Parts: sequence; structure tokens; C-alpha cells
Amino acid sequence: MDKLIVHGGSTLSGSINISGAKNASLPILAASLLTDEDVIIRRVPDVSDTNYMIQILSALGAEVERSSGTVRISAKNISHDAPYELVRKMRASICVMGPLLARLGKARVSLPGGCVIGDRPVDLHIKGLKAIGTQIDMEGGNMDMRAPEGLIGTTVDLSGKHGPTVLGTDNLMMAAVLAKGTTVIESAAAEPEVVDLANFLIGMGAKIEGAGTRRITIHGVEKLHGVEHTIIPDRIEAGTFMVAGAMAAGPEGITLHRVCEADLKPVTEKLLEAGHTVEFNKNGTSVRVAPGENPKGCKITTAPHPGFPTDMQAQFTSLFAVTPGISVIEDTIFPQRFMHCAEMSRMGANIKVDNGRAVIEGGEQLSAAPVMASDLRASAALVLSALTAKGSTEINRLYHIDRGYEHIDEKLLMLGANVERVQS
Ligand code: EPZ
Repeated sequence: MDKLIVHGGSTLSGSINISGAKNASLPILAASLLTDEDVIIRRVPDVSDTNYMIQILSALGAEVERSSGTVRISAKNISHDAPYELVRKMRASICVMGPLLARLGKARVSLPGGCVIGDRPVDLHIKGLKAIGTQIDMEGGNMDMRAPEGLIGTTVDLSGKHGPTVLGTDNLMMAAVLAKGTTVIESAAAEPEVVDLANFLIGMGAKIEGAGTRRITIHGVEKLHGVEHTIIPDRIEAGTFMVAGAMAAGPEGITLHRVCEADLKPVTEKLLEAGHTVEFNKNGTSVRVAPGENPKGCKITTAPHPGFPTDMQAQFTSLFAVTPGISVIEDTIFPQRFMHCAEMSRMGANIKVDNGRAVIEGGEQLSAAPVMASDLRASAALVLSALTAKGSTEINRLYHIDRGYEHIDEKLLMLGANVERVQS
């Protein structure tokens, strides 16, 4: 079990490349099950979550080859039964449900277990799949699904207590592409990763309109064919390093290449509001971020895209913990997603968490302390806090960060941070 030692106080400079998006790669890898022809996907990040998904595809019978960021998949003969041992390791495995149902008319996937970031039911996934003709039996922790009459298009509203569902929209979209007739998803998620999945499916011959809006229309087709696709940049990895630049870079700042300005709009707006420098190049594919001379606190309320992403609130907690003044962060999507705050308090941060909100009184430099990562984005936030803390911070359970950040320690070293990965 690796840990990361971060020697605080280095000034960041230079540039790095941002990887392909983990949250686009996972449903797109699963979507390769929709055809028996070869699929080639480029810029798949080398993180444990994509490795899990590839193991699940292989366990279902697909042939998978991977060379650095390119994955070739041939799902000629596949089974409908996704192994619990693999599915339990990663919630996102649930997005094999739609493709298996569409391709085979049946699927067997275990119900995902609990999650530290909060309550994560799958009732909307089930609602969507049932609406297009799926029968679902729960037995032994598994969802046994089949569509005896075949999948039949209809109109479904997927809004939930906390708004639209990203993977729920993906699952229904992937099931509907081979259904009879037309499916309309109302209150659909509009995240860039949902749009990237829709573009991948359209590349396979699917008929989809409105991806990126709250209303997606899918006209079912008979069969889908092979495709080559390049994954979009990871806006959350980019956002994380943009915050690192605002917290720890010199006046020249740091530069991130292979980003997408449009997808980073909510993060950019908050960094500018907090008084930092954010400059994109002409075509919005590179960004320079530098600390502001008069940084100030802000109020953030997370929301579905194009609102402020919940996957970036922990990182902004790190920024605000060292920014003079009061800041407030409210997470409306995962109200309990504040595990990082207790660990930051061990480093001297002044944060009060109550009822889905964190009130941060910032300004003081933090001090190093051994801390425990609890989930992917919380661990990224601890790394950011450690970069500016006095002394050397030990971040344990690094496997959380390896789930979604490709070679984060190497990228930090390229930017001049003083970090070392240690086996414990
Ligand atoms: C995706 O998870 C992302 N994961 C998450 O990123 C991200 O935090 C989340 O979307 C929100 O943006 C991937 O794309 C692999 P949701 P997903 O269904 O699809 C409730 C990261 O850090 N809900 O959009 O599982 C749910 O409890 C990860 O990379 C229901 O009530 O999230 C939540 O409150 C963490 N019923 C809200 O909807 C359902 O059936 C949004 O969840 C499904 C969800």
C-alpha cells in the first residue's frame, strides 16, 4: 500500500499534459460491448478504474489489447454475467448494464455497495431500464435483468432528489440505441462526459440528438459497427492542477496543455472570482494559472453541469483553507462529501462542516501531519494542502488517488514539487 510524502513549500513552475477523462473512458469502454466489431479508443488514462473496467470486459469474454493510452476491444462472443469480485471494486461497473441488455437482451450485475462520499442509490438506473421494457429481479445482491419482448423506446424522466444522474443517463442511452422505436430522456445529465459517450455511440452508427442538453432523443437502430475514438481531456484532473497553480505556483504560474476551455468554465470562473490569474491560449487547449496578489474567499454551491462540479469542491476547500477570509462550500449533489475536512483540520485548517456545508476560515499556513485519504477527490485535496504546508506530510492509502489521477506524483515532480511515493 503506497503512500505519498509531500515536502511542502516548493514553488511550482513549468508545464504538463492533462490526460484523457476517466469519467468518459469508463462508460465508453463499456459501450464497446454494443458491437461485435473492433473498437479502438485513444487517450484512455492509465488509472486503476480503467484497469478494472478492462478486467470486467475481459471477464465478459471481450478480447482487449492495451498499449499505453490506446485500447483495442473485440467483443465478439460475450456473456451477460458481470463477476461480483470485479464489480464490487468500482461503482462505475454498473454501466455495463445498458450495453449488455441492448446487445444480449439480458444482464446480471451486482448491486453496488456503500460509498464514503454519500448515499448513492441506483433507483433512477432501474427506473430508466424498466421503462423501456426490462424486467429486473433482485437476488443474492444481484440485479437479474432481461427484456423478453426486446427493448422498446419510450419517454422517461430521470430527475432525482439531487438532480439528473450521469451514469443513469449513460446506461439508458446505451440501452436505447438498439431498442425498437424512439427513447426520449427528460432531465438528462449534460456533463461533457455524457456528450463524449454520445459522440462515441454516433460514431458506431447510433442516432442520438440533444446530448449536452436536458433532453436526449435516441432513435433505435438494428446494429452498430466498429469505431475509432479519442477521449476528451479530463476536466477534473485539469481543475485539480489549476488549483495547485493558484496555491503554489510562482508569479509565472504553471501551464496545462491538452485541456478544454469550455468544459473548465465553472472552475475558471471561481478561480477568477477568488482573485487568481487564469489565461487560456487562443484555441482554448492550454491554460496558464498563477496565484493572485489579493486572493479572497468565495461561496460555492455545487450543481449538475454546467454548474460547479461536486468533483472539484474538495480541491477548492484546500485553496480556501489558506486564503484570507471566510468561504462557504455547499455540496447539493453529495451533501456528506466532506471527509477531507477532518484530515485538513489535523493540518491546522479551520473548517466547520454542518448539513452539507463547509464554512472555511482561511489564511493561516497549514502544518504537515500524517493524513488518511478516504476517496479519490478528497485525496487530491490533501495533496494540494500538503504542497503549501510547513513540513513533510504523509498521505496514506494512495490507492484512492491512483483510481483517477494518471501518474500524479510524476506530474507534480515535473512542476517542481518535492514529492516521493513510498511503499509502506
Ligand atoms: C458520476 O457518478 C461521476 N462518476 C462522479 O465522479 C460524479 O461525482 C457524479 O457523476 C456527479 O457529477 C463517473 O462518471 C464514473 P450521479 P454517478 O448518478 O453517475 C443521486 C469522481 O470523483 N442518484 O450523477 O454515479 C446520487 O446519489 C466520481 O470521479 C440517485 O438518487 O453520479 C447523487 O446524489 C465520484 N439515484 C446524484 O443523484 C440514482 O439512481 C448524482 O449522482 C442515481 C443517482
